[in-house]
Amino acid sequence: MSVQDLINLKDKIAIVTGASRGLGSAFAVALAEAGAHVVITSRHGSELKDTAGKIKNTGREVLELESDISNEDNIIEMVDKTVGRFGTVDILVNNAASMRIDKAPEDTSLDEWKSVIDPNITGVFLCSREAAKIMKKQKKGKIINISSAAAYDVLKYFHGGSYEVTKTAIIMMTKVLATEWAPYNINVNAIAPGYYNTVPNQKFLKKEPGLYDKVLDMIPLRKLGAIEELAGLLVVMASDISNYMTGTTVTIDGGYTCW
Ligand SMILES: NC(=O)c1ccc[n+]([C@@H]2O[C@H](COP(=O)([O-])OP(=O)(O)OC[C@H]3O[C@@H](n4cnc5c(N)ncnc54)[C@H](OP(=O)(O)O)[C@@H]3O)[C@@H](O)[C@H]2O)c1
Repeated sequence: MSVQDLINLKDKIAIVTGASRGLGSAFAVALAEAGAHVVITSRHGSELKDTAGKIKNTGREVLELESDISNEDNIIEMVDKTVGRFGTVDILVNNAASMRIDKAPEDTSLDEWKSVIDPNITGVFLCSREAAKIMKKQKKGKIINISSAAAYDVLKYFHGGSYEVTKTAIIMMTKVLATEWAPYNINVNAIAPGYYNTVPNQKFLKKEPGLYDKVLDMIPLRKLGAIEELAGLLVVMASDISNYMTGTTVTIDGGYTCW
């Protein structure tokens, strides 16, 4: 089989959580460009229109779902509706996440802590569990989790806390689920991105004058990442090219974690 055949996702069914903007939107469009029909979710259904339009432009089908990964019923319904519309789930991208609470740990309330821990760990687990029930029956599936370079190093200039903890947990969850579901031919891998040009980073980098340059000084390649390149790695992980890869987290961060 040629490399082009291996990377082709023609008529595969993918779910991308948190696809209304940023990385999730780019992931969903890239999967459609590679041939998949894509189910896209976020808590605000009306904000999915832009991504849905881009997917339709590729000639692939799209299903927009308002769905919260903090809510187990929503997650069960997300997979049920996907199967109802397309018959199966081949690819799950666990992209949705709550961003950091930029507060000193001693000032962080239990509700604030849980507002990050619950979606980012429990939500990812529940989405994976529901998708795996379908993948197990067809003896094939691809689950891709989105961790972060923040899983490895405490980021300077932020208060650290629940976000980093969740992104490190994703790396171990990826290994655990990969070994549990290997007998069913389900690959579970993760991507740990560094700094990309998304809304949370745009806000953060304006937090104080000069911060943008200070952050670039921490990245050997001295630039933010290009979202299309990250999406390219995701397509590889979603395709047959990566059939022998499981339990792996690939860092793509311009060298940020080298220093
Ligand atoms: N940007 C980076 O440089 C970077 C670096 C490392 C890791 N990451 C990871 O990459 C992923 C995407 O980051 P991003 O920067 O693209 O974030 P973003 O711009 O804030 O987008 C987050 C997406 O997730 C949705 N979402 C948030 N909470 C949700 C929930 N509980 N249920 C369902 N959907 C939810 C949001 O829509 P609604 O608000 O409408 O729900 C939105 O579509 C995250 O896992 C993040 O940790 C990003």
